[in-house]
Amino acid sequence: MLKSGRPKGTQDFVPPASAKKFLVENTFRELAQLYGYEEIVTPTFEHTEIFIKSSGSASDIVQKEMYTFTDRAGRNLTLKPEGTPGVVRAVLENKLRIPCRLFYITPCFRYSRPQKGRYREFYQLGIEAIGETNPRVDAEVIQLGGQFFHRLGIADCLVRVNSIGCQKCRPDYRAKLSLFLSTKKEKLCPDCQNRLTVNPLRTFDCKETTCQEVLKAAPIPKDHLCPECAEHFGELIAALKSCTCPWEIDPRLVRGLDYYNRTTFEFSSSRLGSQNSLGGGGRYDYLVAEFGGPPTPAIGLAIGLERTLLAMPEGKTPARPLVFIIWTGPDELKPAQDLANTLRTEKIPTLISYDSPKIKRQFHLADSAGARYCVLVGGEELQRGVYSLKDLQTGEQTEIPIPELPARLRQLLNI
Ligand code: HAM
Repeated sequence: MLKSGRPKGTQDFVPPASAKKFLVENTFRELAQLYGYEEIVTPTFEHTEIFIKSSGSASDIVQKEMYTFTDRAGRNLTLKPEGTPGVVRAVLENKLRIPCRLFYITPCFRYSRPQKGRYREFYQLGIEAIGETNPRVDAEVIQLGGQFFHRLGIADCLVRVNSIGCQKCRPDYRAKLSLFLSTKKEKLCPDCQNRLTVNPLRTFDCKETTCQEVLKAAPIPKDHLCPECAEHFGELIAALKSCTCPWEIDPRLVRGLDYYNRTTFEFSSSRLGSQNSLGGGGRYDYLVAEFGGPPTPAIGLAIGLERTLLAMPEGKTPARPLVFIIWTGPDELKPAQDLANTLRTEKIPTLISYDSPKIKRQFHLADSAGARYCVLVGGEELQRGVYSLKDLQTGEQTEIPIPELPARLRQLLNI
């Protein structure tokens, strides 16, 4: 075996755990489509400037976490640390009609210190509603996230929501916060002292207890919203009353990316350790215009796939809906192969091994493939017009008339 192993902060998804990843992705895909989102796939790497322009040059992502490289022709490129900027670029470049609702499942890359729930390569499941301004859309996005976690059995999921204002009301608030913090500068950590001038709102994100102590008395965004933002937030809260996921207002919730305005929100679970954010998002009503498009409101959400897997109840990996066909002698190989073709035409996942005529060996292969049922194709049974069907979980064996087999299997496998 190679000595080097997989790179730090990356993961292999191998069977049977990879089936759980598939389940999570499918649950997300199904829900996103139910809410009218269509799939978008953008490149794994983009020109670096789009991330600097969107996430913000002072953000942790841009400052410390991007995988940036120069290609052989001298282009400055970056592996995407998040899904949103590539989607906005693609919407404009492909002149998609607006409003549009898009979803994606994409690997992302951030060079951070790996720990439980934090990886250097991870998957985001995201939605972006571009061109809609009504706060009911914000509530719908949050509701979709809540439904997703509920469907996967994550019962303790909570979503915190806040509003951080707009270009009209934020400058005043920012100045006020900056003034407040500058009087306590010596109590702040070096990072927050830096943030004071660059982006004082980011101090709310700091994990240092001394900073959190100072922030307890700090002015909060919610008390400084302009009438339009206050109305928008009020309508969001009213719309959330019918949201089935537990939620609360968190007046100190700001997010680590610069493009947000008005609504911000974050899903968390106590089943996760310090990296407890399952997903998050918010409004970014200025980003499309900053990328050269027309003024266009937008809101989105991205969920971390690995953290979702960590927060899901243990449970058994769902049994593989697979049928394994066993031939009992050389004369039965051809009819067995024909049966495999028939079942596949009927959309029933089917395996057959051609290598060994030994029945015991074939049963062993069925077992290690995780098959749910075996169908035995025997000469004597074929003459009587039946197959033997063996349930590999209970060991029970029954005879099924040949023409009835596909329908019976579809029923048993719930296909
Ligand atoms: P974000 O909060 O940076 O937002 O990331 C979204 C989610 O990705 C996090 O809540 C977390 O579950 C997962 N995540 C982030 N970093 C890591 C990591 N190093 N390892 C494992 N999981 C991670 C965004 O990226 C925004 N683009 C969300 C958004 C979409 N806003 C509007 N539209």
